[in-house]
Amino acid sequence: MRCTPEAVQTALQKIDARHLRRQREPALDHCVNFCSNDYLNLSTHPQIGAAMAECALLTGVGAGASHLVSGHGIEHEALECELAIFTKRERTLVFSSGYMANLGVIGALAQRNDLILEDRLNHASLIDAGLLARTRNFERYPHGDHAVAGAKLSTHLLAHPASSALLITDAVFSMDGDIAPLAALATHALAHQAWLIVDDAHGFGVLGKNGGGCCELLGLNSREVPVLIGTLGKAFGTFGAFVAGDADLIELLMQRARSYIYTTALPPPVAAATRVALRLIQEEPQRRFHLHDLIDTFKIGAARRGLPLMESNTAIQPIILGSSQKAVQASARLRDAGYRVAAIRPPTVPQDSARLRVTLSAGHTHKQVEGLLNALVVTLGM
Ligand SMILES: Cc1ncc(COP(=O)(O)O)c(C=O)c1O
Repeated sequence: MRCTPEAVQTALQKIDARHLRRQREPALDHCVNFCSNDYLNLSTHPQIGAAMAECALLTGVGAGASHLVSGHGIEHEALECELAIFTKRERTLVFSSGYMANLGVIGALAQRNDLILEDRLNHASLIDAGLLARTRNFERYPHGDHAVAGAKLSTHLLAHPASSALLITDAVFSMDGDIAPLAALATHALAHQAWLIVDDAHGFGVLGKNGGGCCELLGLNSREVPVLIGTLGKAFGTFGAFVAGDADLIELLMQRARSYIYTTALPPPVAAATRVALRLIQEEPQRRFHLHDLIDTFKIGAARRGLPLMESNTAIQPIILGSSQKAVQASARLRDAGYRVAAIRPPTVPQDSARLRVTLSAGHTHKQVEGLLNALVVTLGM
C-alpha cells in the first residue's frame, strides 16, 4: 500500500464493501450485555476494586520496569504461587496479557525445524504466535480432529527425527464454545514427545468442580498437559495471563520468552486484584452454579423456540447467520431491543460463518436470558 491518503481510503472502502468494518461502542447503558467474557461477573466486584485501590496507594500503579529488572513485586510473586496451587502445577509465570503469553511461550519452545501444529479454529493469538515463531513447518489440522493431528505428528517426526513438535489448541474454542478433545490430543503428544500447549482462556475459572478449567474438568495433569495457559481478563474479571507447568519449564520460559522479558511488568494493583478474584472463585462456587443454570436455560429455551445453536455446553453460545451483513443487522436490531450481542465476522471466524456470539455471565438473571431469547426470535424472524 502506498503512503497516500487515497490508498488508505481505498483500503477502508474495501472493508466497508464486505461489511467488515469494526466499530468500538462505549458501554451501552440501556442494554444488557451478552457479549462480555466477564463470565463470573467479577470485574465489578467491590472487594476486587478495593484490593486494587489499596495496592495502588501503597506501591503505586505502574511496575516501573520489566519483571527481570525491578518490576517483579510481592503481589506478582504471591499471585504466581497461588495460581500454581490452584492449577496443581509446580510453578506459574504471569504475563501482561493472553496474547503476550501465547507469543512468549510458543516462541520460547519452538526451534527452526520443529513442527507447529494448530487446530484450524485456534484463537488468533495462537495462530500469530505460531507464525511469528518462524519455524520451517507450520500446519493446521481440521477442527477437533485429533486423529489427523496424531498422523501429522508422526509424519513430521519420521521426516525430521532430530526435531520436535508443538501441538497447540484452545481448550474452549473462543468463537464456537466447544471443548477440544484434550485427552486424545494428550495421548498423541505423549506418544511423540511433543509439547501439548493448551490455552484455557475461556474455561479457567468457569469449568471444573473448583473452577480449575478444562484440565480439572477432564482430570488432566501436568504430564498430559505440560503447558497450560490461562487468562485473567475473562472469568477473573481483571487483566493479564499466566502459564503453568513444571518448575524447570517455567524457569526456561522466564529465561527465553521475549514477551515476558522485554516488557513492563503487569501493574502490581492488577496482581493484587487478581489474587482476590482467585479467592472469590474458590469461595463463591455459587457464581459458577448460577452461570451453568443460565446456560441450561438458554439452551433449553433456544431449542423450544427453534433457534439453531452450536454444540456448546459452555458460556459461549454462538448463532451462525452466514453473511456478515446479516450478522451486523441482527446485532443492531438486538441493540435496539436492549441487548448487546456482538456480530463476529471473518477473519475472526471462517468465511460465510458470521455469527452472533452470545455469552452468558453469572451477572445475568434467568429473566434477562428469557428476554434475550424472545428478542432473538423476533430479530431472526423465527
Ligand atoms: C483463546 C484465547 N486466548 C488468548 C486470548 C487473548 O487474551 P488477552 O485478552 O488476555 O490478550 C483470547 C481472547 O482475547 C482468547 O480467546
